Amino acid sequence: MKAFIYEKYGPPETLRMAEVEKPAANADEVLVKVLAISVNAADWHSMRGKPLFSRATLGLLRPKHQILGVDIAGQVEAVGSGVTRFKPGDEVYANLLEHGYGGFAEYASVPVDVMSLKPANLSFEEAAAVPMAAVTALQGLRQHGEIQPGQQVLINGASGGVGTFAVQIAKSYGAEVTGVTSTQNLDLVRSLGADHVVDYTTTDVVGGGRRYDLVLDTVGNRSVPDLRRALAEGGKAAVTGFTSGVMLLRVSLRGGAGPGGRWSWGRRKDIAMVSAHITTKELELLSQLIQAGKVRPQIDRRYPFAEIPAAVAYLEQGHARGKVVVGVA
Ligand SMILES: NC(=O)c1ccc[n+]([C@@H]2O[C@H](COP(=O)([O-])OP(=O)(O)OC[C@H]3O[C@@H](n4cnc5c(N)ncnc54)[C@H](OP(=O)(O)O)[C@@H]3O)[C@@H](O)[C@H]2O)c1
Repeated sequence: MKAFIYEKYGPPETLRMAEVEKPAANADEVLVKVLAISVNAADWHSMRGKPLFSRATLGLLRPKHQILGVDIAGQVEAVGSGVTRFKPGDEVYANLLEHGYGGFAEYASVPVDVMSLKPANLSFEEAAAVPMAAVTALQGLRQHGEIQPGQQVLINGASGGVGTFAVQIAKSYGAEVTGVTSTQNLDLVRSLGADHVVDYTTTDVVGGGRRYDLVLDTVGNRSVPDLRRALAEGGKAAVTGFTSGVMLLRVSLRGGAGPGGRWSWGRRKDIAMVSAHITTKELELLSQLIQAGKVRPQIDRRYPFAEIPAAVAYLEQGHARGKVVVGVA
């Protein structure tokens, strides 16, 4: 089969198309014919091997996993001996982050516990846009932020992959949502349902007087004191992104994420670094929101399979308007 492989850390040009062996499904896995992929920050961070400390798990000198790609949608080709929930022909979507990546390929073997049937009202490309970004938004808002109807919720980076899902998911929980983005994306964020928009190029949302019960920071460019200033009494902040290793460490250490990045309560544990953990349960919950018409993937650009390096290069610039997807012919 064809796949994009990389053998050393570097820029998008280090990804090259190659003929590799088609994977086989283990007992608890399904072999999926990949029909669409979405590109995530996890792909370009792993491609670059950055931040440097991530190489402790990615591979010290060279990448452990040669095929990147975490979000896929496609059709079940074959099932492992222990699989009863899926059958050949099923249309599915899945996330491979915690299973060695492998999505930038024509076929992927996928453990059944990170896969779900594709929402019927989405194309394969739209479905591939969902897992990583939408589950991150969902877990930040629900598990870390404990979102409640009527709350004031601030989404920083509301026009990106995570942010476009976060605005819609927060609205589906009955929150009053403020989205922060740049001038050109204000209308997009409004169209997703945000009640208020703030243009970060002209206005600093922190210190504007308004306080929020829940802040989801997908950019990771706000300091811990900034986040605290934006929070109402008893409020919580969930941070998904980071602009540098130092920012990541500051939020993790001073904000109060517990061991493994999970929420841990205690004195001043009001800010958490989100580490998304994608399971079938989360995907099924998202399928329900999608099928109820409450959440719809916002697709920015579509690329053909041969142009995966260009798709990654575009995402890496940090100004995607929703998700970047790849069709696999
Ligand atoms: N922890 C996890 O499990 C997990 C999972 C998924 C993602 N992430 C992280 O979450 C972050 C966001 O991911 P993503 O997929 O949403 O990225 P993305 O799609 O690349 O999002 C970029 C968005 O950020 C906006 N932005 C840039 N600078 C901004 C600023 N100063 N203020 C407000 N918005 C700004 C951009 O809007 P403009 O073009 O208008 O500037 C753009 O729409 C990444 O750092 C990623 O690594 C973490």
